[in-house]
Amino acid sequence: MSLPWENACVSCTMSETRQAIVTIDGPAGVGKSTISRLIAAELGFTYLDTGSMYRAIAWVLAESGKGTDELGHDEGLATQLQGLEMDLLPPLPGEEYGRVRIGKDVLGPELRTEEMSRLASAVSTLPQVRTVLTAMQQRMGEIGKVVAEGRDTGTVVFPSAAWKFFLDATAEERARRRVRQLRARGEIVPDEAALLKNLIARDLADRNRPIAPLCPADDARIVDTTSLSIAEVVEEMLASIRKHPL
Ligand code: DC
Repeated sequence: MSLPWENACVSCTMSETRQAIVTIDGPAGVGKSTISRLIAAELGFTYLDTGSMYRAIAWVLAESGKGTDELGHDEGLATQLQGLEMDLLPPLPGEEYGRVRIGKDVLGPELRTEEMSRLASAVSTLPQVRTVLTAMQQRMGEIGKVVAEGRDTGTVVFPSAAWKFFLDATAEERARRRVRQLRARGEIVPDEAALLKNLIARDLADRNRPIAPLCPADDARIVDTTSLSIAEVVEEMLASIRKHPL
């Protein structure tokens, strides 16, 4: 199956100054988190998981009991979000993902359910949410030395990042990786076909939303990881970073 990223689908405004930031974008299940953590550790940079921020907002909004359709028309949403304080915390020992402190709550595994993946994707289409989170992410990256992972980090959040990557793999391969990851965590995957269907639906939603859609920046290096191991991807990316020092 071919991958749809022959060309970049948006132009980002690049500036002369290159920031000491690595951006790693791509669709769900491509291995971005593992790869981003390894690249950050290798470079001694801070890892900025922007997806976990969308998940945390999704969790807060789910707690408020409103549907995303309703939220899209909620005049008070922008004000509610402006007041929110968020911090990214390292994972607890034995945990795979970092935690998010949002207001008085500290969230971890509850952000990683399939339901929260679906909700985060829906919430990420709301302009009020994107405006607040993009500004927060830009503040977090202000001093540089960051590896930012997400969907729009190379196009919208950090257009001046010095090193931009877009990772991809076929939907079938990404679904297989996700099943392996869930099984390794001891979770039962009752319906692999449904998982693939959800992944494709989430891709479509992320790619086709009007604001900051998932797509490679025009200066991003696109890496097809379908038949590469994690170590091979990391090696290729580090070689590319080292070839283009600041
Ligand atoms: O990377 P993730 O699966 O944790 O992201 C969850 C959702 O958040 C994803 O479906 C789309 C959204 N997201 C986004 O719109 N922009 C980002 N920079 C990161 C994530």
